[in-house]
Amino acid sequence: MFKDMYIETERLVIRPFTMDDLHDLHAIVSQDEVMEYLPDDPMTLAETERTLSWIIDSYDRNRPRKIIKYTVAVILKESGELIGWCGLGPLDFDPSQIELYYGLRKQSWGGGVATEAARALAEYGFHTVSLDRIVGVVPPANVASKRVLEKIGMIYRMRVAGLPPDHSAYEGLLYFSLTAEQIDR
Ligand SMILES: CC(C)(COP(=O)(O)OP(=O)(O)OC[C@H]1O[C@@H](n2cnc3c(N)ncnc32)[C@H](O)[C@@H]1OP(=O)(O)O)[C@@H](O)C(=O)NCCC(=O)NCCS
Repeated sequence: MFKDMYIETERLVIRPFTMDDLHDLHAIVSQDEVMEYLPDDPMTLAETERTLSWIIDSYDRNRPRKIIKYTVAVILKESGELIGWCGLGPLDFDPSQIELYYGLRKQSWGGGVATEAARALAEYGFHTVSLDRIVGVVPPANVASKRVLEKIGMIYRMRVAGLPPDHSAYEGLLYFSLTAEQIDR
């Protein structure tokens, strides 16, 4: 299910990463603007290689009821270029919840592509992986990401608060959630 997924949308192909994507992915995750609101700093090539290798290794270990982290490549259909990633994985501060995440190279922002990828992966999560609920968290300042969550139908639930000290970095995030019934509506 995870290793051979292939999704086509109007403008995109979404598929598992391979090590051949290394340099294209590095060009994206080394951009300061892309990493601004993400937990990691802009990555070196060696860090990207380690991360990509871990992502690919985890394809075999993910199970529908136990997703470790499932990150896949977002490709522009027209040109075949790798333009970003999207994924599903346990929420760091509450691993019982599966979080939807995404990122695109800066040149591809603003055309609705992130929304197209996020919606397609959420549908995959509900219809193929049979998840009941997907959540999204975003710092209030990341307005574009917040809009993506809203545009795919996610519902704002709360501002994250009251976490233990080891998760204090997540305090204040906006927390959204979506169920299969809501996305199909
Ligand atoms: C978040 C991200 C994927 C959004 O990509 P995108 O291509 O701009 O997304 P879309 O075009 O699908 O939608 C963005 C929406 O935000 C809106 N938006 C973007 N910047 C905005 C701003 N500063 N103020 C108000 N609205 C803004 C856009 O107008 C659009 O909404 P609309 O369709 O209603 O007009 C992209 O900014 C990114 O890769 N950021 C770095 C990684 C990241 O932060 N990921 C999210 C982790 S929480």
